[in-house]
Amino acid sequence: MLIAANWKMNLNKNEIKLFSKFLKKNNFSNHVKTCIFPQSIYIDLLAKLLNNTPVYVGGQNCHHDISGPFTGEISAFSLKEMGCEYVILGHSERRQLFNESNSYIKKCSESAINNSIIPIICVGESYDDRKNKNALNFVKEQILNSIPSTEKNLCIAYEPIWSIGTGEIPDKDEIFEMHEHIKEVAYSFLKRNIKVLYGGSVNIHNIKEVLSVGNVDGVLVGGASLKVKDFLAIYEAVVKHINS
Ligand code: 13P
Repeated sequence: MLIAANWKMNLNKNEIKLFSKFLKKNNFSNHVKTCIFPQSIYIDLLAKLLNNTPVYVGGQNCHHDISGPFTGEISAFSLKEMGCEYVILGHSERRQLFNESNSYIKKCSESAINNSIIPIICVGESYDDRKNKNALNFVKEQILNSIPSTEKNLCIAYEPIWSIGTGEIPDKDEIFEMHEHIKEVAYSFLKRNIKVLYGGSVNIHNIKEVLSVGNVDGVLVGGASLKVKDFLAIYEAVVKHINS
């Protein structure tokens, strides 16, 4: 199980220090992996603050080249150098607000893999696609065009766009069906089983329900990961689920 905390463009230096101070008091389980994705400028700070804990740090994005004239971009090489274990790629906010295409995301994923970083590649349908029963097809296209064919480790996060930041989540059958679909489509060319995280309005109230879906391998949490108490409550729920 992996708990990925996508802080997006939130939490400043002092808030990160307070969060880490509290987080460090937690008893961590060997069976749950945790990775926090702060704004890139704070990756180094967070990595140092969490130095003696099993909590990983990760990047929220990376470029596909290692260096060059790409003002404002960050390379996978630099993320690795700063201690990142994972990078989130193809988040719907980046696809929508920064026009990232499937092929662009694929190239960035390849660069992450080449630099020993595990990409968490995000896919997920809009409300209209869900309503028009096009969700499975839409996500299939995203997978076939944005996931590199590789033997190296990668994860997919299923984040329905209509669920992000809205408090609404798909029902258990819908999550199960989509996760099964994602695993099948990925298997068709990777020839192995991959881990699929669920993301979209995961919180302390619905985490138990999300985990009870048999094929959820972890969660990608946004808003609820910003408050350390909520984040740790989610962590506890995952530990309990594993031990049950
Ligand atoms: P919320 O948990 O705030 O809905 O965000 C989900 C997300 O986008 C994580 O990447």
